[in-house]
Amino acid sequence: MVGDLVIGEKGAFSDCAQESFTLSQQPRIITDFVPTLQLFLEEEFIGDALFDALANFHEGRARQAFQLMAEIERGVIATMGPAIARHGLKLADPEGLREDGRREAEAMRDMSWSDFLSHVDEDYPAFVDELEQLFRLAPKADKADIQLFLDHEVALIDFAAAEQNGDPKSVDILTAFLQRVT
Ligand SMILES: [Fe+2]
Repeated sequence: MVGDLVIGEKGAFSDCAQESFTLSQQPRIITDFVPTLQLFLEEEFIGDALFDALANFHEGRARQAFQLMAEIERGVIATMGPAIARHGLKLADPEGLREDGRREAEAMRDMSWSDFLSHVDEDYPAFVDELEQLFRLAPKADKADIQLFLDHEVALIDFAAAEQNGDPKSVDILTAFLQRVT
């Protein structure tokens, strides 16, 4: 089942990443800022390892794009350092999170580049929705960081759309975002 997953209520964290690709990812409902920020940052570590591993399953343009996506994930994590300190977040062990990412990649090993782009197109808007919810909950001091977090998902979606449309310069969308976090 998808939908009606609440983040912020004790014990209700839920991992949607394993959902079937046949149904679009549904946004989780976010009620608390700090635990959700922590969860999303941990998901970035998973994303970093996921994209890095997927890069190894692909060649050429797809490989280059996955490498850039992994760099973006790492850049977002690095940029959020002050917020992590400000809120005293104790993130889960990065190696365990990366292991989760590699496992996810393994499950996606046979996904074609074009199927991956469709997956981004269908499922990543849910993450944007979640980050918009988080932005609304964010204290003033965190708004800029959450906006950047949101923008990185939008960059991935914009890239996937451009790539699906055969735009030869689609990768520029990723490199332009990367410059904001490196
Ligand atoms: Fe990400």
